Amino acid sequence: MSHEFLEKNIGLMAVLIVIVIAIGGLVEIVPLMYQAQAIEPAPGVKPYAPLQLAGRDVYVREGCYGCHSQMIRTLASENLRYGPYSTAGESVYDRPFQWGSKRTGPDLARVGGRYSDDWHRVHLTNPRNVVPESNMPGYPWLSEAKPDPALIERKMRTLRTLGHPYTDADFAGIGAALQDKTEMDALIAYLQGLGVRAKEAMP
Ligand code: HEC
Repeated sequence: MSHEFLEKNIGLMAVLIVIVIAIGGLVEIVPLMYQAQAIEPAPGVKPYAPLQLAGRDVYVREGCYGCHSQMIRTLASENLRYGPYSTAGESVYDRPFQWGSKRTGPDLARVGGRYSDDWHRVHLTNPRNVVPESNMPGYPWLSEAKPDPALIERKMRTLRTLGHPYTDADFAGIGAALQDKTEMDALIAYLQGLGVRAKEAMP
């Protein structure tokens, strides 16, 4: 009887459907917000140093995520190629995270230490100089542009309000860390740090 009433009042039914789905969603999502495994840094994972943070901004600005994911899935083929699968705790200091899903190029979650700084410099300037069949674009202008220390400081202070454990000593060191560095240096520092700490701490 009451069900018949519901089925004949489609507006009311729509509202109730939304409520039921919302409850289902909350039950799945809210516990994750408090689960240590998802919100606490994995062993060894630290907030980005100023130069790496500047490099991360370049990565986002240049749209590297359009061709590269940073998320190794729990599949044997992925683990054999890229290393141990990614965990949520590795991304707690990534705002926003760069997991991505498009892989025109390889996953970069653990690319840190795989190549030398010089290799990256040549590759990022013109990928075809080291990988002849590459269709990745070159980014030669990064060697000319400089990161802005004032902007990085504002970012780090904002991140601290969100819970990233930066200290006053970290802020004081920004100028020295970015001195004479180009955006190319910053991007390479960022790439060389990807996945390294978490990998070291893994059993
Ligand atoms: C149009 C797609 C595309 C874009 C955009 C792109 N890449 Fe690539 N990238 C590739 C492809 C394809 C490869 C594999 C061939 C090669 O090594 O050049 C690659 C390879 C790489 C590698 C070597 C990875 C490995 O494990 O061998 C790194 C590092 C890299 N890219 C970084 C970047 C960065 C940083 C950016 C942004 C500044 C970027 N890529 C933008 C397509 C892209």
